[in-house]
Amino acid sequence: MNQYMHLFQGTAFSSKSPKEIQILKDYLFCINTDGMIEKIIAPEDADYQPLLDTYQGTNNFHQLAEGQYFLPGFVDLHVHAPQWAQSGTALDIPLYDWLNTYTFPLESKFSDLDFAKKVYDDVVSTLLANGTTTALYFATVHKEASLLLAEICATKGQRGLVGKVVMDDPEQNPENYRDADTPTALADTEEFIIAVQELAKSTKQGVYPVVTPRFIPSCTDEGLQGLGALAAKYDTYVQSHCSESDWAHGYVQDRYNKNDAFALHDFGLLRDKSVMAHSNFLDDQDVDLFAQTGTAIAHCPISNAYFANSVIPVAHFQSKGVEIGLGSDISGGFSPSLFDNIRQAVMSSRMLEDGVNPSLSAQDRGVPGSRITIHEAFYLATAGGGESLSLPIGRIQENYVWDVQIIDTKCPSAKLPIFNDNEDLDDVFQKMMYLVRPENIREVWVQGDKVHSR
Ligand code: GUN
Ligand code: FE
Repeated sequence: MNQYMHLFQGTAFSSKSPKEIQILKDYLFCINTDGMIEKIIAPEDADYQPLLDTYQGTNNFHQLAEGQYFLPGFVDLHVHAPQWAQSGTALDIPLYDWLNTYTFPLESKFSDLDFAKKVYDDVVSTLLANGTTTALYFATVHKEASLLLAEICATKGQRGLVGKVVMDDPEQNPENYRDADTPTALADTEEFIIAVQELAKSTKQGVYPVVTPRFIPSCTDEGLQGLGALAAKYDTYVQSHCSESDWAHGYVQDRYNKNDAFALHDFGLLRDKSVMAHSNFLDDQDVDLFAQTGTAIAHCPISNAYFANSVIPVAHFQSKGVEIGLGSDISGGFSPSLFDNIRQAVMSSRMLEDGVNPSLSAQDRGVPGSRITIHEAFYLATAGGGESLSLPIGRIQENYVWDVQIIDTKCPSAKLPIFNDNEDLDDVFQKMMYLVRPENIREVWVQGDKVHSR
């Protein structure tokens, strides 16, 4: 009887710190029946050869081929699952108009469970095929369809954190797309939490309910207060949009004479398990409040280029102790790939640092110290996401789960430009970050089980 459920052999990349990666060249990764990385063994370790001899030739042994590498599975901290149906379209108007013209009409269709199933099956499979092993989802206001999304994550093996969206203000939301009233919104949320916590018991990887006020403009004070109480009662995750655009930020200022962060905090919605999307307009007091409460940020760089009227200062917020991960924000962001968002995070940060307005002099254009490296953006998509959710995910490290993507740099339809068999491994890493396409993602594993292969 072999001791481990799986033994993998190959080279892995994982973040050592927000700035630095660690390269584990030709290591052994020992995965136990719970899908956890129980032991990582270096080639020079005395146990290495005996273990190899025991496992080689068995079904439990997996050796990477030449040109293949392990990366941690990605953690997408902000996805609107229903909006997958309009991804790549509807990006021509500002946030407020976009919501009313395209997004609320689309989301209202998820009262139809057949339609919901089609879209949700596809978005979960697509994210897995893009290397996303954990996703923090907004569903819609519909309790049944939201539960269906959690069930689909459970079945396909993705670690889904799912929110039934609350939009309980009759003044602010369309008549055909909102909660019936505030008591119904809260009752539906509570039933949803209980149902997902029950569903989680039958999964290996876990699925989680998330308290989800869409954003302050869509909710009443009573609704927000009630949601804060439910999050505390059931100790759940919380997600919302925070200080995203000029319009959203200004709306909250007009209503409460404070910024989103303090308003959300007043309603009990900033907790260690809170993840706030965007958060571009946080001032230093808001950032300190995030750090004190353990609230994390889902940075959505592609979406921000369209809707935010701003670039988030990642490096500054991190320096104040706030945890940040990456979000695709489908469909405000058009791409289901966190590789694409890693790339945009780096490019946006450089535009913030260097400035883009040629009518200003070079020294007046940008914000010094803003740029982040590709290694830092990789941290955001992996370990930063894991830290944001306080789960042992996003790193290839002992006592973390085996959530990985196997990247094939020699895949014939998307070969990476590596011409030297002894190419420096940090260069290989950078090429993967910039050039990997879904074709290169050979296999995806969640909690020790294979959930995608091509
Ligand atoms: N603010 C409120 N709802 C949304 C949404 O669906 N997407 C984005 N990007 N911002 C929002
Ligand atoms: Fe969003």
